Amino acid sequence: MEVNIAGTGACVPERVLDNVELSAMVDTSDEWIRTRTGIARRHIATWETTVDLAAAAAEKALLNAGMEAEKLQMIIAASSSAEMAMPGVACMVQERIQAVNASCFDINAACSGFIAAFQTAQAMANAGMAGTVLIIGAERMSSLVDWKDRSTCVLFGDGAGAAVLTAGGGENNTAEKKMASVFHTDGTKGKYLNCRAGQVSSGPVLHTENSEEKPAENLIEGCARMETTGEYLRMDGKEVFEFAVKKVPECIREVLKKAEVSIDDVDYFILHQANRRIIESAARRLGVDIRKFPMNMEAYGNMSSASIPILLDELNREGKLKPGMKLVLAGFGAGLTWGASYLVWTK
Ligand code: UT7
Repeated sequence: MEVNIAGTGACVPERVLDNVELSAMVDTSDEWIRTRTGIARRHIATWETTVDLAAAAAEKALLNAGMEAEKLQMIIAASSSAEMAMPGVACMVQERIQAVNASCFDINAACSGFIAAFQTAQAMANAGMAGTVLIIGAERMSSLVDWKDRSTCVLFGDGAGAAVLTAGGGENNTAEKKMASVFHTDGTKGKYLNCRAGQVSSGPVLHTENSEEKPAENLIEGCARMETTGEYLRMDGKEVFEFAVKKVPECIREVLKKAEVSIDDVDYFILHQANRRIIESAARRLGVDIRKFPMNMEAYGNMSSASIPILLDELNREGKLKPGMKLVLAGFGAGLTWGASYLVWTK
């Protein structure tokens, strides 16, 4: 059975932190960040929680799909930066949007989380478990990073993206495959990108609803107030970079082979937005025109599991996706994990 994307939605926090402002917080520069990563600014949560962002993205996706929340049979949320260890983000979103008939659970596959959620939703549909599934990638990465570590804090941003999936089709008489999936893990490389459980800080802007502490006047003050425990997100950037430029093209070729689709026939490759140079390298290695690789990390930074659905939503709202277009989604990140999904856009 095929699974179609019926609607998409996205939400990012109000507060924008650009490279210039960040340069006053740590020893970095707009020039270094732009040339090494392609990032110019990112949205940082001040009052918004991961669930606030997730629920807002979910509501927009439902609106875009023209579907009532009570029609949802399942919600799968991908996140590794939720404020609550339990209940899961998906359960909390269910309450917010009143998706009373949905069964809900979370997936933690870090930056590959949205791909894992998408593939799980497909498997659930094929198992007859759910025909209408809301999938979400939602992150408040600003609460995991050490705002005194310039090698990581310049990279990440906060946000949530969602998609409504409906099962159906697959009864056509053509031999053409409409979907294919691959997903891989190398746990021996987990040490290259990790973060201790429960390590959710207030972020650089000390402003939470329940905090009795006076909010910081600005990011620099907030950053100075943060305790550095040495237990925030840590990454060996070079190792992760080398892994990504090798494995992403490899798994894109693998998924297209499985789908029996020529690489030249793919309209868009929608990749995790970690670094412009990784995406340019993937395009080069695959021999594909870079214009088929849309990018938005300039405005958002790396939003982990939220980056693919937010980019998908942008393309959808800009009218760039037409029925019949062939898409490849590909994610990579902590685990280390990497995976790709091939689909035909039907909306
Ligand atoms: O989403 C999960 C997946 N994550 C990724 O895909 C991230 C993959 N890795 C990367 O994107 C890149 O490795 C980074 C952007 C993180 C780093 O780029 P790089 O070209 O690998 O830089 P580097 O770590 O080799 O650092 C080069 C220099 C170093 O100085 P020296 O030793 O050459 O004097 C760093 O100390 O740049 C320095 N540096 C900085 N300078 C200014 C590191 N961070 C910064 C900074 N501003 N923010």
